[in-house]
Amino acid sequence: MLKPLIDIHEETAVPRRRVLGGVLFWAAWGVVAILGGVLGAGMLRFLYPRALYEASKIFKAGRPESYKVGSVNLVTGRGVWIVREQEGFYAILAKCTHLGCQPIWYEDQQVFKCPCHGSRFYKTGINFAGPAPRPLDRLQITLSSDGRLLVDKGKTVGMDYILKA
Ligand code: FES
Repeated sequence: MLKPLIDIHEETAVPRRRVLGGVLFWAAWGVVAILGGVLGAGMLRFLYPRALYEASKIFKAGRPESYKVGSVNLVTGRGVWIVREQEGFYAILAKCTHLGCQPIWYEDQQVFKCPCHGSRFYKTGINFAGPAPRPLDRLQITLSSDGRLLVDKGKTVGMDYILKA
């Protein structure tokens, strides 16, 4: 019996096996590369600190003479009001003592009103209406060595604290 010159099954069986082996080989390396990438990203993330960089709690708020007597001044970006009275200055944290919303100063009524649940505060920060359980926090305010107002948001003071300047 004559043997065919080319065995079709033999000819195609080997390349198919090779192709399948190659695909599996690269797929396996692909999985290894992906896992390596995920692990590497995790390691890099671990190397960087998860610290939050926030603005300093102590900041200067200009010269005393730039504040009008009787005025309530919101320090932009700081969440603090600086009140100038005849006797001196005090600083109030612009954060409602109920749930932390920022009250709004109403110059015409001379009161702070909280937009969230309606608490009301006198110019001194003392609460007189609504659910706020206590006055607004009064913050330490001093004079810096160069004669500017210096507010420390990290230090609360008593309601009678006033900077004479
Ligand atoms: S947060 Fe101000 S009254 Fe509730």
